Amino acid sequence: MKNEMVVEFSSRSENESFARVTVAAFITQLDPTMEEITEIKTVVSEAVTNAIIHGYNNEPDHMVYIKCTINNGDIELVIKDNGAGIDDLDKAREPLYTSKPELERSGMGFTIIENFMDSIEITSSPSEGTTLHLTKQLSKTKTVYN
Ligand SMILES: Nc1ncnc2c1ncn2[C@@H]1O[C@H](COP(=O)(O)OP(=O)(O)O)[C@@H](O)[C@H]1O
Ligand SMILES: [Mg+2]
Repeated sequence: MKNEMVVEFSSRSENESFARVTVAAFITQLDPTMEEITEIKTVVSEAVTNAIIHGYNNEPDHMVYIKCTINNGDIELVIKDNGAGIDDLDKAREPLYTSKPELERSGMGFTIIENFMDSIEITSSPSEGTTLHLTKQLSKTKTVYN
């Protein structure tokens, strides 16, 4: 069974916890483990924080978009901003690289996302913003949903 949700919200840091809890609530129907919920929440948190801080430079009047699709035990997440975009994706994905060291960023966001998800695809350009396509298969894939 396929099931999908879309949510869009202002680029305010207060909305980071809203986003993480919303996605966690949606995937609860797949009966994930506590660990899987924590991983998904962390991933959403990192991606949304990046959209707000880096994509939109902390300006609150833009929108962040999330689509979550579940298909049996598979989770697919699209997290998107229409902000600044990323010049050098390879560099951005390096562990510990941050373009904002003054904000005490750890530079570990993409590394964490990669570790917790099965696949990560980043599309980004300076004029269009950044889109993350992420997938993760939950451990309980034998359950039949209908
Ligand atoms: N949505 C985004 N828009 C623009 N730049 C981004 C975005 N996400 C990540 N980046 C760039 O990739 C770098 C690495 O991201 P990340 O690994 O999360 O580290 P951090 O957020 O701590 O800087 C950021 O410093 C930033 O330059
Ligand atoms: Mg980050």
